[in-house]
Amino acid sequence: MRSLVRLGLVQALLLTLAPPVSAGDGLALTPPMGWNSWNKFACSVSEKLIRRAADAIVASGMQDAGYQYVVIDDCWQVKRDPAGNIVADPERFPSGIKGVADYVHSKGLKFGIYSDAGTATCQKRPGSKDYETQDAKTYAEWGVDYLKYDWCNTEGQDTRDAYTKMSQALRASGRPIVFSICEWGSTKPWLWAQGVGHLWRATGDIQDCWDCGRSWGGMGVTHIIDIMADIHAYAGPGHWNDPDMLEVGNGGLTLAENRAHFSFWALFAAPLMAGNDLEAMTPEIREILTNREVIAVDQDPLGMQGRKVWDDGPREVWVKPLADGAKAVILFNRGTEESTFTAPWDAIGLFPGGKALVRDLWKKADVGIFKGRYETKVEPHGAVMVKVIPQF
Ligand code: GAL
Repeated sequence: MRSLVRLGLVQALLLTLAPPVSAGDGLALTPPMGWNSWNKFACSVSEKLIRRAADAIVASGMQDAGYQYVVIDDCWQVKRDPAGNIVADPERFPSGIKGVADYVHSKGLKFGIYSDAGTATCQKRPGSKDYETQDAKTYAEWGVDYLKYDWCNTEGQDTRDAYTKMSQALRASGRPIVFSICEWGSTKPWLWAQGVGHLWRATGDIQDCWDCGRSWGGMGVTHIIDIMADIHAYAGPGHWNDPDMLEVGNGGLTLAENRAHFSFWALFAAPLMAGNDLEAMTPEIREILTNREVIAVDQDPLGMQGRKVWDDGPREVWVKPLADGAKAVILFNRGTEESTFTAPWDAIGLFPGGKALVRDLWKKADVGIFKGRYETKVEPHGAVMVKVIPQF
């Protein structure tokens, strides 16, 4: 019994003392955090919107909480010039993309943009097929730090070849650019995309709803959680499963559901790309998006994606091992009634008879020291998220 406890202690110490994990080209060693225009604004993007989003990231405290990338999604581009250069909408982006990138950088933030591996983007703007090298060079000149690369209008193309082509073009551009693969999980990118991109979408588009229908092009939060459950082994520093951008604060979820959504994205070590109107967000939504203790779970340097360890109808327990030897745990109530939940230590990978300090990451308070298990009530569609810290 004692030796098991000691082994746990030694492991915890080794993990704490271990040098930072390095992977691939050293980019995105923790999941990228930022804001993307699509979920709230779709094609209504403009220079003004992006500048205001950058201002709001700073003013709201989100930058201090770790949000970094400001990403323009689809619809910024209108055509190619006779030399094949991609051209931004001159009315919506009068300063050009470089002007917007400079503004974003002047705030101490990073700048991201969107294109597509096919002939056209999903909104029928010019895609990058056969222009990979030229576009990568243009992005580098503009100061792009992050590229989201979509998969519409790609008839006859192979995902691995197409994404590798752009990945190589980005590398050849000489600028470090995080590469976000977006083929919606259609060819299981977790099996081939490590080393090609830094993150890959694992699912169809997120919808601003809890468990609404699973149809192509859209699914609610709980469906995405279920898909992520099966691929936890494939995430790690520099290569993340991406369950899509956040819908937190977009109006379709209750506060409890918003908190559960954010808790899961953190447990998944998912990219945290806010997708709401930052200028209009309520204090409660701001509190969720800037909860540093939950964000610390997402950004934990060990980079493990959490997994489900207990499934009892509407009652589930999920765990994510952390670099300091503690466990982040979600007690998840899928049901519509409040219910009592138990997280037994052996289920979450702790010595069954041991004691552990439990800290509630939403209450931001220590709950107490418990032996063998933690039991608590969980509201309907709610997630209690705790950090369980073994006591030796
Ligand atoms: C989808 C993508 C969305 C958004 C949209 C833009 O394919 O999954 O996140 O980028 O295209 O048209």
